[in-house]
Amino acid sequence: MTVLQSPPFCFDAENQQKAETYLAQYPPAHKQSALVPLLDLAQNQCGGWLPQPALEAVAALVGIPFLKALEVASFYSMFHLKPVGSYHVQVCSTTPCWLSGSDDLYKACKDQLGICKGETTADKKFTLSEIECLGACVNAPVVQINEVFYENMTPYRLIEILKKLAAENSKKDSERQRV
Ligand code: FES
Repeated sequence: MTVLQSPPFCFDAENQQKAETYLAQYPPAHKQSALVPLLDLAQNQCGGWLPQPALEAVAALVGIPFLKALEVASFYSMFHLKPVGSYHVQVCSTTPCWLSGSDDLYKACKDQLGICKGETTADKKFTLSEIECLGACVNAPVVQINEVFYENMTPYRLIEILKKLAAENSKKDSERQRV
Protein backbone atom coordinates (compact mmCIF):
# COMPACT_ATOMS: atom_id res chain seq x y z
CA MET A 1 0.00 0.00 0.00
CA THR A 2 1.34 3.43 -0.97
CA VAL A 3 1.05 6.28 1.51
CA LEU A 4 1.76 9.65 -0.03
CA GLN A 5 4.29 11.97 1.53
CA SER A 6 3.75 15.66 2.27
CA PRO A 7 5.27 18.29 4.58
CA PRO A 8 5.45 17.61 8.35
CA PHE A 9 2.11 17.65 10.12
CA CYS A 10 0.91 19.10 13.38
CA PHE A 11 -2.58 20.12 14.42
CA ASP A 12 -3.34 23.83 14.17
CA ALA A 13 -4.29 25.61 17.41
CA GLU A 14 -8.03 25.01 17.05
CA ASN A 15 -7.65 21.34 16.17
CA GLN A 16 -5.04 20.83 18.87
CA GLN A 17 -7.64 21.92 21.38
CA LYS A 18 -10.19 19.52 19.87
CA ALA A 19 -7.60 16.72 19.88
CA GLU A 20 -6.96 17.29 23.57
CA THR A 21 -10.71 17.16 24.23
CA TYR A 22 -10.97 13.82 22.42
CA LEU A 23 -7.98 12.40 24.29
CA ALA A 24 -9.38 13.55 27.64
CA GLN A 25 -12.43 11.36 27.09
CA TYR A 26 -10.38 8.20 27.60
CA PRO A 27 -8.21 6.95 30.47
CA PRO A 28 -4.48 7.53 29.68
CA ALA A 29 -3.94 3.77 29.30
CA HIS A 30 -6.61 3.65 26.57
CA LYS A 31 -5.91 6.83 24.65
CA GLN A 32 -5.66 4.81 21.42
CA SER A 33 -9.47 4.72 21.58
CA ALA A 34 -9.35 8.32 20.29
CA LEU A 35 -7.66 7.16 17.08
CA VAL A 36 -10.66 7.35 14.72
CA PRO A 37 -11.85 10.86 15.73
CA LEU A 38 -8.24 12.10 15.64
CA LEU A 39 -7.71 10.66 12.15
CA ASP A 40 -10.92 12.37 11.08
CA LEU A 41 -9.72 15.66 12.54
CA ALA A 42 -6.35 15.30 10.79
CA GLN A 43 -8.02 14.41 7.50
CA ASN A 44 -10.21 17.51 7.65
CA GLN A 45 -7.19 19.69 8.37
CA CYS A 46 -5.29 18.12 5.44
CA GLY A 47 -8.05 18.92 2.94
CA GLY A 48 -9.79 15.56 2.87
CA TRP A 49 -6.98 12.99 2.92
CA LEU A 50 -4.32 11.56 5.22
CA PRO A 51 -0.68 11.94 4.15
CA GLN A 52 1.93 9.84 5.96
CA PRO A 53 3.11 12.66 8.30
CA ALA A 54 -0.47 13.14 9.54
CA LEU A 55 -0.82 9.39 10.21
CA GLU A 56 2.52 9.40 12.03
CA ALA A 57 1.56 12.43 14.15
CA VAL A 58 -1.78 10.90 15.17
CA ALA A 59 -0.16 7.53 15.89
CA ALA A 60 2.40 9.25 18.14
CA LEU A 61 -0.36 11.17 19.90
CA VAL A 62 -2.22 8.00 20.88
CA GLY A 63 0.96 5.99 21.49
CA ILE A 64 0.68 3.35 18.76
CA PRO A 65 3.00 2.40 15.87
CA PHE A 66 2.44 4.16 12.53
CA LEU A 67 1.44 0.84 10.93
CA LYS A 68 -1.45 0.41 13.38
CA ALA A 69 -2.78 3.84 12.41
CA LEU A 70 -2.34 2.92 8.74
CA GLU A 71 -4.27 -0.33 9.26
CA VAL A 72 -7.23 1.60 10.66
CA ALA A 73 -7.08 4.36 8.05
CA SER A 74 -6.95 1.84 5.21
CA PHE A 75 -9.82 -0.24 6.66
CA TYR A 76 -12.47 2.49 6.84
CA SER A 77 -13.69 3.96 3.55
CA MET A 78 -14.22 7.32 5.27
CA PHE A 79 -10.44 7.78 5.31
CA HIS A 80 -8.46 8.57 2.17
CA LEU A 81 -4.78 7.89 1.66
CA LYS A 82 -4.50 10.03 -1.44
CA PRO A 83 -5.97 13.44 -2.32
CA VAL A 84 -9.62 13.58 -3.37
CA GLY A 85 -11.46 16.32 -5.22
CA SER A 86 -13.51 19.04 -3.51
CA TYR A 87 -16.54 16.82 -4.11
CA HIS A 88 -16.03 13.13 -3.43
CA VAL A 89 -18.76 11.23 -5.25
CA GLN A 90 -19.07 7.73 -3.79
CA VAL A 91 -21.45 5.40 -5.57
CA CYS A 92 -22.57 2.34 -3.64
CA SER A 93 -22.33 -0.78 -5.77
CA THR A 94 -23.15 -3.50 -3.27
CA THR A 95 -25.84 -5.90 -4.53
CA PRO A 96 -29.07 -3.95 -3.75
CA CYS A 97 -27.64 -0.75 -5.28
CA TRP A 98 -26.09 -2.64 -8.17
CA LEU A 99 -29.43 -4.32 -8.94
CA SER A 100 -31.12 -0.92 -8.70
CA GLY A 101 -28.87 0.73 -11.26
CA SER A 102 -25.52 1.77 -9.79
CA ASP A 103 -23.84 1.00 -13.15
CA ASP A 104 -26.05 3.65 -14.76
CA LEU A 105 -24.91 6.12 -12.08
CA TYR A 106 -21.24 5.49 -12.95
CA LYS A 107 -22.15 6.09 -16.59
CA ALA A 108 -23.87 9.36 -15.64
CA CYS A 109 -20.70 10.47 -13.83
CA LYS A 110 -18.58 9.47 -16.82
CA ASP A 111 -20.88 11.41 -19.16
CA GLN A 112 -21.01 14.49 -16.96
CA LEU A 113 -17.50 14.58 -15.47
CA GLY A 114 -15.48 12.49 -17.90
CA ILE A 115 -14.06 10.29 -15.14
CA CYS A 116 -14.33 6.63 -14.20
CA LYS A 117 -14.12 4.93 -10.80
CA GLY A 118 -10.99 5.91 -8.89
CA GLU A 119 -10.34 9.02 -10.98
CA THR A 120 -10.34 12.75 -10.23
CA THR A 121 -11.21 15.49 -12.70
CA ALA A 122 -8.27 17.52 -14.02
CA ASP A 123 -9.49 20.59 -12.11
CA LYS A 124 -9.46 18.52 -8.85
CA LYS A 125 -13.11 19.31 -8.18
CA PHE A 126 -14.61 15.81 -8.39
CA THR A 127 -13.38 12.35 -7.44
CA LEU A 128 -15.47 9.29 -8.26
CA SER A 129 -15.19 6.22 -6.02
CA GLU A 130 -16.93 2.92 -5.55
CA ILE A 131 -18.11 2.25 -2.02
CA GLU A 132 -19.61 -0.67 -0.16
CA CYS A 133 -23.10 -0.60 1.41
CA LEU A 134 -23.96 2.80 2.86
CA GLY A 135 -26.69 1.29 5.03
CA ALA A 136 -29.67 2.70 3.13
CA CYS A 137 -30.36 -0.29 0.86
CA VAL A 138 -34.13 0.12 1.22
CA ASN A 139 -33.79 3.28 -0.86
CA ALA A 140 -31.20 1.99 -3.34
CA PRO A 141 -29.35 3.12 -5.30
CA VAL A 142 -27.46 5.40 -2.95
CA VAL A 143 -24.74 7.97 -3.57
CA GLN A 144 -22.72 9.84 -0.96
CA ILE A 145 -21.17 13.19 -1.92
CA ASN A 146 -18.92 14.48 0.85
CA GLU A 147 -21.12 14.30 3.98
CA VAL A 148 -24.47 14.14 2.16
CA PHE A 149 -26.36 10.94 1.30
CA TYR A 150 -28.66 10.84 -1.74
CA GLU A 151 -31.13 7.96 -1.86
CA ASN A 152 -33.33 6.62 -4.72
CA MET A 153 -30.80 8.16 -7.07
CA THR A 154 -31.38 8.25 -10.82
CA PRO A 155 -28.85 9.15 -13.53
CA TYR A 156 -30.86 12.28 -14.40
CA ARG A 157 -30.97 13.46 -10.77
CA LEU A 158 -27.28 12.71 -10.27
CA ILE A 159 -26.33 14.75 -13.33
CA GLU A 160 -28.44 17.67 -12.05
CA ILE A 161 -26.69 17.48 -8.65
CA LEU A 162 -23.25 17.35 -10.28
CA LYS A 163 -24.10 20.36 -12.44
CA LYS A 164 -25.29 22.29 -9.38
CA LEU A 165 -22.15 21.44 -7.40
CA ALA A 166 -19.92 22.44 -10.32
CA ALA A 167 -21.74 25.76 -10.57
CA GLU A 168 -21.44 26.37 -6.80
CA ASN A 169 -17.75 25.57 -6.95
CA SER A 170 -17.16 27.98 -9.84
CA LYS A 171 -19.03 30.70 -7.91
CA LYS A 172 -16.82 30.08 -4.84
CA ASP A 173 -13.70 30.22 -7.06
CA SER A 174 -14.67 33.56 -8.56
CA GLU A 175 -15.56 34.96 -5.10
CA ARG A 176 -12.12 33.87 -3.84
CA GLN A 177 -10.48 35.60 -6.80
CA ARG A 178 -12.34 38.86 -6.03
CA VAL A 179 -11.20 38.86 -2.33
S1 FES B 1 -26.34 -1.73 -0.90
FE1 FES B 1 -26.19 0.37 -1.32
S2 FES B 1 -26.85 1.25 0.50
FE2 FES B 1 -26.83 -0.84 0.98
